[in-house]
Amino acid sequence: MSVHKEVKRVTVHVVQAMKMRDEKISMLTAYDYSMAKILDAAGIDVLLVGDSASNVMAGHETTLPITLDQMIYHASSVVRGVKRALIVVDLPFGTYQGNSKKALNSAIRIMKESGAHAVKLEGGKEIEDSIKRILSAGVPVMGHLGLTPQSIYKFGTYTVRAKEEEEAKNLIKDAKHLEKLGCFALVLEKIPAALAKKVSESINIPTIGIGGGADTDGQVLVTHDLLGITKDFHPRFLRRYLELFDLIKDSVEQYIKDVKSGDFPNKNEQY
Ligand code: KIV
Repeated sequence: MSVHKEVKRVTVHVVQAMKMRDEKISMLTAYDYSMAKILDAAGIDVLLVGDSASNVMAGHETTLPITLDQMIYHASSVVRGVKRALIVVDLPFGTYQGNSKKALNSAIRIMKESGAHAVKLEGGKEIEDSIKRILSAGVPVMGHLGLTPQSIYKFGTYTVRAKEEEEAKNLIKDAKHLEKLGCFALVLEKIPAALAKKVSESINIPTIGIGGGADTDGQVLVTHDLLGITKDFHPRFLRRYLELFDLIKDSVEQYIKDVKSGDFPNKNEQY
């Protein structure tokens, strides 16, 4: 008999059923084993190994530089820390656009080498061949519309998307198209709350918002923003639950003082 309690895993079907019964979906980013373990223990539904690792973990200005090998490294570290959450991994810039065979190879590498459960791609109709091919291999795909950071040099800024009617109409069309192709869920980033509500009501797959108001089927934040590790990022949609940068800094300052003064280690902290 196993001494371990069975943990019921969150699957793409579980997430879809949550929308059907009006239960909100919680999603956060994770890039490493230790943090993933904490977030999973807290009961998070979905963990996204986001290409925001490029900013948060590596200090790049955009998400563009991160490579497939680096994403696989982050994803496999997260997988080792998680017992319950569904793990979705971003396909990084340049590994799926304009070449569906390359897209499939990238998705397969992520699934095989990390053990994650699904991939996320940014874009609508323009990447449909890549989405179709990945889905045909049995890999679940999460879509991502609105502000898509891999296209930052096309947009020029990180401001709210789809405020104009034309772009809003195209976004709704793309959302319906992604649902029809077979995506299991859809991230809506930084779009007006009224539009996010309309999209969420127009499709049967769950929408996960970041800066899209309260009426999406779930919410996602970058964990380092929520915990206040990243200090200089203050978008309106961000709620900080902790000021971890300051807490860590204070603790390390105290440690330095203790080392310098000879207070650490004391008699009980040695052999
Ligand atoms: O990479 C990321 O963290 C994301 C979320 C902001 C949705 O794509």
